[in-house]
Amino acid sequence: MVHAIGIDVGGTLTKVAFFDDNQKLTFLYFLSDDLQRVSDWIALFDDDVKIGLTGGRAEQLKTFLRCHDNLHYLVEFDATVAGVNYQLQKDGKNFPDAVITNIGTGTSIHYHRGDEHKRISGTGIGGGTLLGMSALMTGIHQFDEIVQLSARGSRSEVDMLVSDIYFGNKTPIDGGLTASNFGAAGLTPLMERSKEDILATVQGLVGEVISTLSIQCAFAEDVEHIVYIGSTLSGNIPLQNIIGNYTKRKNRTPIFLRDNGYSGAIGALLSIRKEN
Ligand SMILES: Nc1ncnc2c1ncn2[C@@H]1O[C@H](COP(=O)(O)OP(=O)(O)OP(=O)(O)O)[C@@H](O)[C@H]1O
Ligand SMILES: [Mg+2]
Repeated sequence: MVHAIGIDVGGTLTKVAFFDDNQKLTFLYFLSDDLQRVSDWIALFDDDVKIGLTGGRAEQLKTFLRCHDNLHYLVEFDATVAGVNYQLQKDGKNFPDAVITNIGTGTSIHYHRGDEHKRISGTGIGGGTLLGMSALMTGIHQFDEIVQLSARGSRSEVDMLVSDIYFGNKTPIDGGLTASNFGAAGLTPLMERSKEDILATVQGLVGEVISTLSIQCAFAEDVEHIVYIGSTLSGNIPLQNIIGNYTKRKNRTPIFLRDNGYSGAIGALLSIRKEN
């Protein structure tokens, strides 16, 4: 029997975590623009099931759950960090401090050490940007399709590298770095680019902005590990590669979790268990 459910109602996706009958941690997601479905799903459980709620749209979900007496609200950042800690421990990963970068609809960056954590930065470039720019530039708006097609694309005719600018001459910084995301497309605008190439370049833009900012935060806080989470990374190996490679290039250690999108839901779930 399920006694408790953790729910993270995000700007795009509502993530749910609970321990099933065999005490296996189980995950599920819904689209946040259909909260009635979430409410219908919750109604399948016993009335006394305890619910830990977090996320920007938690208040909105509450209006669908008027009769529910067992709600426990947790601040999004507290839930996220608690969830990440649990996931790291489960994976046998232990370090004294870390930068945690949550790539949701937007991106929020945290510093975490022991029991202490603070939000240190963020950017509007996130999973919503990936969906939005992809839709506007290629007409494709399904996340899975964007990821699949981008994996087959090449950025070389769309981006401009430092080495492209220096034209074979000695470069003052690493020639393989991006000098200008989408910069080559502006110089030869009439040249056709495939959807695959455009999508690969959108992933590059999103990944490089987020990792650049996260790396700067890691330098500022003198931290080695950057834990990247959020559903934007779910099954998104091209984005993980862009972020992972850039982070390593800057001598920081990137960490990706198995269930990238569920840290907030896990944190919300654990908060109820703690209460009991
Ligand atoms: N099935 C899906 N449908 C839509 N987007 C998806 C899907 N799977 C992954 N994504 C990606 O995940 C992103 C949302 O990530 P996440 O669920 O972590 O954010 P959120 O919690 O909804 O937003 P925020 O934390 O900013 O309020 C989307 O913008 C999209 O890029
Ligand atoms: Mg979120």
